[in-house]
Amino acid sequence: MLEQIKSTAAYIQSKVSLQPEIGIILGTGLGGLVKEINIKHVIPYEEIPNFPVSTVEGHSGKLIFGELGGKNVVAMQGRFHYYEGYTMQQVAFPVRVMKFLGIQKLFVSNASGGVNPDFSIGDLMIINDHINLFPSNPLIGQNIAELGPRFPDMSEAYSKELIAKAKKVAAANNIKVQEGVYAGLTGPTFETPAEYKYVHATGADAVGMSTVPEIIAARHMSIPCFAMSIITDLGVPGKIVEVTHKDVQEVAALAEKKMTLIMKELMKLI
Ligand code: HPA
Repeated sequence: MLEQIKSTAAYIQSKVSLQPEIGIILGTGLGGLVKEINIKHVIPYEEIPNFPVSTVEGHSGKLIFGELGGKNVVAMQGRFHYYEGYTMQQVAFPVRVMKFLGIQKLFVSNASGGVNPDFSIGDLMIINDHINLFPSNPLIGQNIAELGPRFPDMSEAYSKELIAKAKKVAAANNIKVQEGVYAGLTGPTFETPAEYKYVHATGADAVGMSTVPEIIAARHMSIPCFAMSIITDLGVPGKIVEVTHKDVQEVAALAEKKMTLIMKELMKLI
């Protein structure tokens, strides 16, 4: 595994001269941030040795290198989900490669269902903690000591400093943001009303099918993380209606501008 990570990073470095400081994982409908990147190199996933290839509708797979908010970044356009059949290790693989490319921070976005009754469709939520409801963990198996410890600390999975800065950016731009706990579970089904109730009872404010594996892999390697979610539907009793992938993408597209602005301005502050 370590050899694969290193050889993939070496391949990328042979193609790209830019040294990224920040890694970004772009989630559902959040292509807007890409338009803000001053792009220097693009590598399709299928050209990258050992990289899984994205299969899900609405996610194209490319690694984008460029400059955003004065920082050199590498952005994953298209991420790997556990529900596609990848192992947790495969889902986490690109984050590990990005570490070897030199990233010092990881920014992640996603779409989720709100289970906090105070939330509305279209809200942005800064993720301040998570609950791993996947049946697995990317760190299961022999520990790779060169990446991090056997038992990594998760007391600050999401950087308090980055959260505080993002809140300042949001306030300065009159953007309303919620803050809360993201529960990650496998999907691909959306939740039943009973499952939404269960997720809320665990202490979560929103639920989605990504992010948790990547954050775990990043924290294993001590990378400070920042993540934001677009609340695309509600799993709140009395407000539950049928939800489709299209609905999720449409709501995400509406909130895209606000999310993009926060991410870009935050980039300038670090
Ligand atoms: N549940 C799980 N994942 C999601 C949801 C949801 O309601 N909305 C967007 N992603």
